[in-house]
Amino acid sequence: MHLLIPAAGMGRRMGSERNKLLLTLLDKPLLTWTLLSAEAATCIDWIGIMGQPVDFPEFKDILATVNLSKPVELIQGGDTRQESVYNGLQALPSDAEQVLIHDGARCLATPQLFERCAQALQEYQGLIAAIPVKDTIKVVDEDGLILDTPERKQLWAAQTPQGFNVKLLKDCHEQGRQQRWEVTDDAALFEKCGLSVHIVMGEETNLKVTTPVDLSVAEFILKARHNP
Ligand code: CTP
Ligand code: MG
Repeated sequence: MHLLIPAAGMGRRMGSERNKLLLTLLDKPLLTWTLLSAEAATCIDWIGIMGQPVDFPEFKDILATVNLSKPVELIQGGDTRQESVYNGLQALPSDAEQVLIHDGARCLATPQLFERCAQALQEYQGLIAAIPVKDTIKVVDEDGLILDTPERKQLWAAQTPQGFNVKLLKDCHEQGRQQRWEVTDDAALFEKCGLSVHIVMGEETNLKVTTPVDLSVAEFILKARHNP
């Protein structure tokens, strides 16, 4: 199974000067934790990392330290996550039929979650890890007025990994570019093209490290895992 890791963001909401994936979490760069989990997932046998060229020297240092047993390729990312994934798809080896896409910022995803998604991809053409939402979610307009309260039992919070048939996802990305669709995950492109996407049970701890609070929570979870 091929894995693409979008890692070309700026981490603006983290408020740090550099890519948040290079920040230290416990004793390692955040991206290292993501790579260690991918390394431990036996279903994955190739890894592509999309990054900004300015970060490549540090990515290379990380790869030298982690010393993965799997082939790894650094791929130039784009201005949006969508463009980064597009570039990643173009860089896949030609024999790649299925792909898992997993945000570099979700450094707490377990190897078991990768395995579950890879397994489900034998059955489905599109899938995402997701969990039922705990909060009641409101749809709100620009003036702060609530428009709607969707029934909670129908609401799931999307995570990554997300897995797809490569040919179908490439077609969806091409259509998305032509129609100028702007989406925040790959499942949304699949859905807009009328293709079905299934849910795989995600993990409550699989948070996307986005703000400084997330960084503290992630550190807490990692510490608990390593000193149970
Ligand atoms: N990403 C990417 N290319 C981009 C933007 C984001 O590969 N042009 C990646 C990020 O590195 C991250 C994942 O997509 O691993 C999810 O994005 P997000 O959490 O939004 O990260 P950032 O875009 O870096 O953060 P922010 O939106 O706060 O700037
Ligand atoms: Mg972003």
